[in-house]
Amino acid sequence: MLAAELTAIGPAHEVVKAVEVDDPGAPKGDEIVVRLSACSINPADLLLIEGKYASLPEVPSRLGIEGVGTVEAVGADIDHLAPGDVVLSLGRTNWAHKVVLKGTQAVKLPSDIDVEQAAMLKVNGATAFRILEDYVDLAPGDWVIQDAANSGVGVNLIRLAAAAGIRTVNVVRRAELIEPLMDQGADVVVVDGGDLVERVHAATGGAEIRLAVDAVAGSLVRRLADCLASGGVIVNYGLLSGQPCEITADHLVFKGLSLTGFWLAKVASGMEYDQVAAMYQGLAGRIQDGTLSVPVEARYPLERIEDAMRHAGTYGRDGKVLLRPNG
Ligand SMILES: NC(=O)c1ccc[n+]([C@@H]2O[C@H](COP(=O)([O-])OP(=O)(O)OC[C@H]3O[C@@H](n4cnc5c(N)ncnc54)[C@H](OP(=O)(O)O)[C@@H]3O)[C@@H](O)[C@H]2O)c1
Repeated sequence: MLAAELTAIGPAHEVVKAVEVDDPGAPKGDEIVVRLSACSINPADLLLIEGKYASLPEVPSRLGIEGVGTVEAVGADIDHLAPGDVVLSLGRTNWAHKVVLKGTQAVKLPSDIDVEQAAMLKVNGATAFRILEDYVDLAPGDWVIQDAANSGVGVNLIRLAAAAGIRTVNVVRRAELIEPLMDQGADVVVVDGGDLVERVHAATGGAEIRLAVDAVAGSLVRRLADCLASGGVIVNYGLLSGQPCEITADHLVFKGLSLTGFWLAKVASGMEYDQVAAMYQGLAGRIQDGTLSVPVEARYPLERIEDAMRHAGTYGRDGKVLLRPNG
């Protein structure tokens, strides 16, 4: 079987290789073997590979933060999963034909779930869900503003918010995204620029906005801060611009804004298995009821891992890039 291996720290399309590895064989008592169906390639994977994430990965090491597959075999001590079950992997080495997981690293999903959509839940679905839940008490009719609104997180946030009656202002950097995001349920879509605050004010009728969700950082944080009502909260969860978050003392002192950070890995590490499973099963239900759906731009087999890495690392995409390890 093949597994993606990190051969060095560097550009993903150069250093990630599909290598032949031994089949896992029979699982130990508390383990399961999962045959992977679909795996998302996220910016966090690419940052890790490039040595720009929270910690440096070992070289060589296996890769792939997200994956959904079918249980092939279970160890003698496993009673909550059985062969044939569709599971979301909580492991971080999912870019492979098969992976061995502890039973507590897999969450059972509905057997008829769309595996591609499910393969985008663990990171981006959960991030959008938690950010909407955890920072500002939002009620139907309230407004939220976010940037990188066409990203996986952004589309999930638009759709979760719309289903809850929460209205979204969505900042993008390309005008061609306005129509597709309105189709996803966005209330307002604006292209970033110096007069962002005036255009947001005009489009929302001067609505009070108390939550800003930011993946870009840099000067856009200042423009988001200008759009917020006094006492509002900016939640930064990404560093797409590579720049530090800009905010003024006026924003913090006179306007009373707060700027905080969200990291799903940290949030999840503070949760019990049952809580994590319940969160993902709840989000899976939102795929099943049509609330969550993220566009996919391309699918690759493991044999074309370099092409998949190069594609995932390009911006201006129309959706996520997925691996389909077993076709
Ligand atoms: N903190 C956490 O726990 C957490 C969890 C999930 C994701 N994230 C972060 O969230 C961000 C989005 O992830 P994703 O998987 O949703 O992304 P994605 O679906 O792969 O989409 C990438 C997005 O980044 C935008 N972008 C890239 N470079 C940019 C720049 N310099 N300025 C503005 N926008 C830029 C792209 O815009 P175009 O389409 O115009 O190129 C696109 O909207 C990433 O930074 C990721 O690391 C963090």
